[in-house]
Amino acid sequence: MAITLGRYILRGELGRGAMSVIHRGYDPRIRRILAIKTLRAEYAAHEAHRHRFLTEARAAGTLTHPGIVTIFDVGVVNGVPFIAMELLDGPTLEAFVERHKRLPLRTILRIAMQIADALDYAHRQGVIHQDVKPENIVVTSDSGNVKLTDFGIARLRHTAQGTLAEEQTIAGTPHFMSPEQIRGDEVDGRSDLYSLGVVLYWLLSGDTPFRADNVHELLRKILTEPLPPPKPLDPATPQALLDVVRTLLDRDPTERYQTGAELLEDLQRIDDALAEQERNWQGRRFISLRLSWTAIMSVLVAVTVSAGLGWVYHRQNEAMTRLAYDYGLALTETLALESAEDLLLEDRIALQALVDEMARKRDIAHVSISDGEGRAYFLFDTPVLYQNHELGRLRLSMSTAALQAANRATMTALIAVLLATLATVLVGVYMLSRRLVVPIEILRRALGQITQGRFDKRIRMRRNDEFERLFSAYNAMADSLEARMFSAHSHKRNAAAPNVPPAPATRLVDAPPPRTRHHGKPRSPSG
Ligand SMILES: Nc1ncnc2c1ncn2[C@@H]1O[C@H](COP(=O)(O)OP(=O)(O)O)[C@@H](O)[C@H]1O
Ligand SMILES: [Mg+2]
Repeated sequence: MAITLGRYILRGELGRGAMSVIHRGYDPRIRRILAIKTLRAEYAAHEAHRHRFLTEARAAGTLTHPGIVTIFDVGVVNGVPFIAMELLDGPTLEAFVERHKRLPLRTILRIAMQIADALDYAHRQGVIHQDVKPENIVVTSDSGNVKLTDFGIARLRHTAQGTLAEEQTIAGTPHFMSPEQIRGDEVDGRSDLYSLGVVLYWLLSGDTPFRADNVHELLRKILTEPLPPPKPLDPATPQALLDVVRTLLDRDPTERYQTGAELLEDLQRIDDALAEQERNWQGRRFISLRLSWTAIMSVLVAVTVSAGLGWVYHRQNEAMTRLAYDYGLALTETLALESAEDLLLEDRIALQALVDEMARKRDIAHVSISDGEGRAYFLFDTPVLYQNHELGRLRLSMSTAALQAANRATMTALIAVLLATLATVLVGVYMLSRRLVVPIEILRRALGQITQGRFDKRIRMRRNDEFERLFSAYNAMADSLEARMFSAHSHKRNAAAPNVPPAPATRLVDAPPPRTRHHGKPRSPSG
């Protein structure tokens, strides 16, 4: 026989607070699994307790924030007041820390940032929580997603009641209470920030700042003793974070952060610095593919193209020189043949005419027909023979200027080719690697969402290459994770209340069915 509370079916207990019991519940009307908080019978008779209880519905009921539990319904059945709210799947922060002992610094920061954001939102809506402590923070994923619960003694601006002292006596541990709250003074959002400061102190050092054997001694210490400096469990805790804690725990509210947003900004900065440090860890700098590939390709291309062009230049130089040499040699031999007769007849006029004609040719720097010896760049020296008798010698020298000019032109052309090739490769590789970097970044972000426990994210980008396959593999993994989450949840619920058909109902609230089952757009399991 199922236990019911009004239209809700109760399926076992989830947790207990000072005055209330939290049940796992089911709402058959909208087929939703939820949490139902009821005031314990022994308190239900007292007006003050009923008031405290209903405060929660009034305060949290107005708030819609991912870091705050959502209230669905409030009512009284057979004299038992109840609140129906979003079911949170996970331990309280207290139990979570007990299980994990020391949390990583960035998880601590993540938790503090979410609570700072939730408080900032609540304070802007005129709601002060007044009971921020680890038991009232539920951890919904191992990576440190959290939600603030239990607005049981929350204070609504303009509707503050005079029953605070009484409410505090039933609120449990005073370790997290602000000095002004203890004194019974008027409190505002800064009191919540003090409590968050104690939570942060406790997360970082494993202890609350003040310890005492009895409550009176504890309250006296909170009100009068100087703050013992936190001894962080992690030696790498940044000083800036300890400074944030000290600021939050200032006895004077005007010396604290004035809003959650102010606090969030500083926490975010510290987290960014830690993230940067993680990236640079052990000197492993982040070097983008775009830069490294471009640099490597440029060096490779520069070396190969230079070697190739150098070889071409060398070969061309050799060929041209040989050509010029052969030309000079042929010319010299012709001249020697032509001048043999004139030399024999000692016809100086004819010889002079021959030399003059040669001198008019562009490439011939110097022609001498003499008995002695001469000098030139390309110097050709040949005997002038007549019927095998050496009559004298002919010397011809050719200027190499034209050859050098040709070589210079070749060199300029080759350097231009080299630079153009390099520029093309540089631009090409840069653009191509950009096309790689974008899909890699998309995949990295999607994986980041999985790490945060969000399995509803799919990559929609269509491509025709290996990335398409990688994206489908990612999507298949997310489908499978989501389906597993879903079946694990419905299994748990079936076990809790086997008489209720839960399968179609749970889909609406908790993990949605995988995409492949055509149920429309999947929703986040955490809502
Ligand atoms: N919405 C919820 N879903 C699941 N568990 C919850 C939810 N709200 C509270 N709990 C569990 O019940 C415990 C008591 O709830 P809480 O609202 O703090 O009660 P109290 O006002 O009596 O302190 C919490 O510490 C938590 O473990
Ligand atoms: Mg509580």
